[in-house]
Amino acid sequence: MTQNTSAQPLIHGGARTPRAALPHLPPLALYIHIPWCVRKCPYCDFNSHTASSVLPEEEYVDALLADLDQDLHAVYGRELSSIFFGGGTPSLFSAAALGRLLEGVQARIRFADDIEITLEANPGTFEQEKFVAYRKLGINRLSIGIQSFQQAKLEALGRIHNGDEAVRAADMARQAGFDNFNLDLMHGLPDQSLDDALSDLRQAIALKPTHLSWYQLTLEPNTVFWNQPPALPEDDTLWDIQEAGQALLAEHGYRQYEVSAYAQAGRPARHNLNYWSFGDFIGVGAGAHGKLSHPDGRIVRTWKTRAPKDYLNPAKSFQAGAKELTNEELPFEFLMNALRLTEGVEARLYAERTGLDLASLDEGRREAEQSGLMQVEPSRLAATDRGQLFLNDLLQKFLS
Ligand SMILES: C[S@@+](CC[C@H](N)C(=O)[O-])C[C@H]1O[C@@H](n2cnc3c(N)ncnc32)[C@H](O)[C@@H]1O
Ligand code: SF4
Repeated sequence: MTQNTSAQPLIHGGARTPRAALPHLPPLALYIHIPWCVRKCPYCDFNSHTASSVLPEEEYVDALLADLDQDLHAVYGRELSSIFFGGGTPSLFSAAALGRLLEGVQARIRFADDIEITLEANPGTFEQEKFVAYRKLGINRLSIGIQSFQQAKLEALGRIHNGDEAVRAADMARQAGFDNFNLDLMHGLPDQSLDDALSDLRQAIALKPTHLSWYQLTLEPNTVFWNQPPALPEDDTLWDIQEAGQALLAEHGYRQYEVSAYAQAGRPARHNLNYWSFGDFIGVGAGAHGKLSHPDGRIVRTWKTRAPKDYLNPAKSFQAGAKELTNEELPFEFLMNALRLTEGVEARLYAERTGLDLASLDEGRREAEQSGLMQVEPSRLAATDRGQLFLNDLLQKFLS
């Protein structure tokens, strides 16, 4: 297919004072968005849409590669450290389509020898054969969307799978040769008790994933749950679930390294760690976001056309907008990511990734330390436990 190749002009985000060129560019990742699902879940505000009976796989793969072509000039000579197929439900795509896509990506950008390639998979959208075929393509990590093992909860969440299918999904992943897989679980579900939540966690832990993402359900604007809120647990119960869940995960060797991410030793998600440590990423696909640093010090965020039908419309451009981050925005942008990490980041990373002097954080750091929100440790930028609980308050101190 042909696509309009004219990207939107850059919006300069205010006056730009000179900033040091970056000493070296950060690791580079690729996010690929697949925007279709079997059915839209009532709590979900991601860019995901109920698929029609025939997915435009071929057309979409062509579009993704053409979209990538337009970003290539900005990453010339660099290699990919990770790729993430996110959605939506990427496991709706056939191995043949994903194979053509991965080949196309590899023909355009070099892969690091130890590249991490993750695909989000929903129970009810794959069988063993599909997982085997994905593994053969070089996909070496799965992220399986379980949410809960309890039938009543799955129904309340509008999921298409049952608890048995969730268990089988993890077994299939292992048998297909995925020794590295994540399970997504949510807690704070409608009418969920502490026992319900811990039972879900115990079942997940019994499947021995290398990684667990354990999100508290939030009611998001423009979702069915926002308009017709279900009965969620009281705050006391939510607090008990959080405390007891964290203890259970720690007891079984899952170390919390981010607000909702827990991993076995050496198994944090490289792709996500790159986001949280202000690494670079190309985003291709409907509504995908990207962030790229340039050797001259410019750091630019981009976002792609959101509606799948517009993204696939040759008369429209892939890129919907771009914005260069200003010196005033960078402290907040960096910390908004880094402070999500339980141990924060080494302080030197700030200058390396933003080109700004560490001293530009001094005033905010002093205030945050005095309020008990940031750790007093010169060589690290890290929130305290309290700071992680009140991350928004903490970040306000770095807004200019
Ligand atoms: C991008 S979503 C898609 C993953 C996959 N399609 C699925 O549903 O299993 C990634 C994860 O975000 C979490 N999530 C989605 N909406 C949420 C919400 N409103 N509150 C908390 N977590 C949410 C779910 O755990 C979900 O698995
Ligand atoms: S939660 Fe997952 S399956 Fe449900 S609509 Fe969102 S992306 Fe699709």
